[in-house]
Parts: sequence; C-alpha cells; structure tokens
Amino acid sequence: MSGSRIAALGHHQPSRVLTNADLERLVDTSDAWIRQRTGIVTRRIADADESVTDMAAAAAAKALAASGLAPADIGMVTVATCSAIDRSPSIAAQVAARLEVPGAVCFDLNNACAGFCTALACADHAVRAGAARHALVIGAEKMSDITDWTDRGTCVLLGDGAGAAVVSHEDGVADGTGAGTGAGTGAGTGAGIGPVAWGSDPTRADAVRLTGEWHPRFAQEGQTVFRWATGELSAVAEDACRRAGLAPADLDGVVTHQANLRIIESLARQLGLRDDVVIARDVVDSGNTSAASVPLALSKLVERGELAPGARVLLFAFGGGLSWAGQVVTCP
Ligand code: UT7
Repeated sequence: MSGSRIAALGHHQPSRVLTNADLERLVDTSDAWIRQRTGIVTRRIADADESVTDMAAAAAAKALAASGLAPADIGMVTVATCSAIDRSPSIAAQVAARLEVPGAVCFDLNNACAGFCTALACADHAVRAGAARHALVIGAEKMSDITDWTDRGTCVLLGDGAGAAVVSHEDGVADGTGAGTGAGTGAGTGAGIGPVAWGSDPTRADAVRLTGEWHPRFAQEGQTVFRWATGELSAVAEDACRRAGLAPADLDGVVTHQANLRIIESLARQLGLRDDVVIARDVVDSGNTSAASVPLALSKLVERGELAPGARVLLFAFGGGLSWAGQVVTCP
C-alpha cells in the first residue's frame, strides 16, 4: 500500500499590522465589540504591490526548503484561493515559475475558506494514485483586495497571508494516520494524511458571497453561518476522525478554519477533546484569511514546536458554498 504525508510546512504574512484601534478610525466599531464577538485583535494586510502570488510563492519556498526536495521533484502545484485577481496564468503556474518547478501540473482551486483542506485531499488522492510523487499545496489570500472597507460587519474580520505544505508519497501508509490502532503509519515516518470528510449545502450557498461585477466584495449572513458552524459541523469533524480510525480524544491538535474564536471554542467543546490538546487560535493575531487560515495556523504551531513531529491533528475548514472539508494529518 502507498499513501501520502505532509513532509514540510511554510507560511508567510505581510508585515503591516492592522489593529482594532486602526479600524475604529475607519468604521463605526470598537475594540471591545470585535474582541467579544470574534476574538480578533490584529490582522495582517498586504501592501498594494504584494500580491496573492507573492505570498503564495513565499510560503511555498519555505515549505520546499524545509522538505529538502529539489524543485524538479515537485509534480503538482495547487493554490487554494478565492481572492486572486488573475484567472490565467493560474497562481499555481506563477508560483511554479518563481520556484523554478519544471513540468508540474499546476492549477488553482476555489472552495473559499474550505479550499486548503479540499486541495490537500486532492493532492493526497493524486499522490496515492501515482499521478505525482510530491505536491505543493498552498492556501493564499489577499482578502484586503475584496474587502468592503465601509462595511463594519465584514471589514473587521479579514486578513491576508499564505500557508503551504509539501505532500509526499510514502510507502507503507495505507489510509492515513493509522493512529488509534497503535500501529503508527507502517513503514514510514509515522506521518500520514487521513481520508477526507467533505461536502456542501448549496441550499445555503448565498450565506457567504463573492459575487457580482468585477470587482467583487466579500459579504456574508454572519448569524446564518455562525449557527451552521456551531450547530452542524462538529458531526463532520467527528466523521473526519472516524475515517482516520480515531476518536476526537485521540487528537493532539485541532486546526479549524480561523473565522471566529467563539466558533473555534464551540467546536472544541462539542468534540470532547483532551485537556492537553493544542487548539489553533491564530484568528486572534491574523483574522480570517479564508483558504490560508488552516495552513497558516498549522505551520505556525509546528514552527513554534507546539505541535511535535508525529502529532495527530484534525484540520477542518468551512465557509462559502456552504462547503466543508477536513482530515486528520500527522505533523512533519
Ligand atoms: O469565513 C467564512 C465563514 N464565516 C464565518 O464563519 C462567520 C460566522 N459568523 C460570525 O463569525 C459572526 O456572525 C460575526 C462575527 C460575523 C458577527 O457577529 P454576530 O455576533 O453574529 O453579530 P451580528 O451580525 O448579529 O450583529 C450584532 C450587532 C448588529 O447591531 P444591531 O442590529 O444589534 O443594532 C450589527 O450591526 O452588532 C453590529 N455590528 C457591529 N458593531 C460594532 C456588526 N459589526 C459590527 C462591528 N462593530 N464591527
């Protein structure tokens, strides 16, 4: 049997910090409201000359360097994004050109905030099927480009950034983490990508929107999405664990889409996690970076040593569509 694993991670954020105090000067809001309703304290905003491609390439370059692979080893580059302006060449093709990756299949994938976990599953499937031995999977967003800076209901939420993972073929990995069986993942390093739990509810497709004439602006029915996320999604997260042969109590970490600290805490409570589980709360510093939020938060936790190699982590993202995707991975 063969499988795949996350071999390395990387991330990039713009240097400019936008605080709640800055937003108080822009719209009718307050630091207290933003913290209480969302948990967000700061977010990073890219300058006009820093593009989605710039951030995606920076994150991908770090992941590639950490993997020890050569650019020519990469057979697939995919970028999850809903904010990129360029339609063609794809952001993935532009990243491949910057990193001098020759000949890889390159494509962008838009599943809004669920994009990275969706792309990770696609890469996992491609690697398992032998269509590529190594893949670069990137989530990158410049949400500030598609933010309505006059709408206090959304402009306080969003941020820019990118996260990337190198997904590598691994012999001996059957179907993901193998955790819970005491067997690790077989012959490899103990790292694996578990089966994805994914889907959508198109009857509520309008609850998160990026529609209209160019230039689109992010809009959402916040309460609808909040109730959906806190009411219905813990079952999907449990399903992702079950597919990996795990119970939520077996997890070492949980990295959900970073939209709202209250949603993150609610999902964690519903899952019944161990007390020592590491929960990503990067939304506090970075705001909602859509498809970038999961790889950004995961890469930071791994870089800081808060998630050790081999740690079993549930990745879980949701948003526009309404869509969701999640899988258990083990950390590089
Ligand atoms: O990433 C895609 C997936 N999206 C999500 O997961 C988002 C899920 N939803 C949420 O996180 C929350 O619904 C929000 C953070 C977006 C909003 O929080 P809320 O507690 O649902 O607030 P609300 O929209 O019900 O608004 C409550 C009040 C309203 O005033 P009235 O009508 O009660 O007078 C809003 O006008 O808060 C007002 N409000 C604000 N006040 C100060 C809305 N935005 C602001 C603001 N500052 N920035």
